[in-house]
Amino acid sequence: ALERTLSIIKPDATRRNLTGKINARFEEAGLRIVAQKRVRLTKEQAEGFYAVHRERSFFGELVAFMISGPVVVQVLEGEGAVAKNREIMGATNPANAAAGTIRADFAESIEANSVHGSDSLENAAIEVAYFFSQCEIAG
Ligand code: CMP
Repeated sequence: ALERTLSIIKPDATRRNLTGKINARFEEAGLRIVAQKRVRLTKEQAEGFYAVHRERSFFGELVAFMISGPVVVQVLEGEGAVAKNREIMGATNPANAAAGTIRADFAESIEANSVHGSDSLENAAIEVAYFFSQCEIAG
């Protein structure tokens, strides 16, 4: 089915000027970037976005990292977009990411892992709505 998923190009990737290379991976895989904006997240926005991880030991560092530079938040659309994006990204820890994935090729560490992607269709809807209003998405 045609799905939408929320993607974030993280500060380690914007710092290294990798947004175009990462977007090319999405487009080559048949995902369409139907919304996109480059923003500097506030601490409150980052904490709210990662609220499910609030009790994890790495939460404070994760939030600090996500506000350490600009990010590109985007909506990707395509057939099975949620799973397809996770396949293109590779495993959370780049040490475990399959060859040819974004994280295998670009990530610096489990924290500075270049991209975020929604982990389910249900969370995708929540995460897209967190950053975008309907009128900002052009499918
Ligand atoms: P992301 O998909 O954005 O969701 C939560 C993020 O926490 C994850 O990617 C990692 O970048 C980050 N993170 C940092 N440390 C860890 C860890 N030990 N285990 C899992 N995720 C971590």
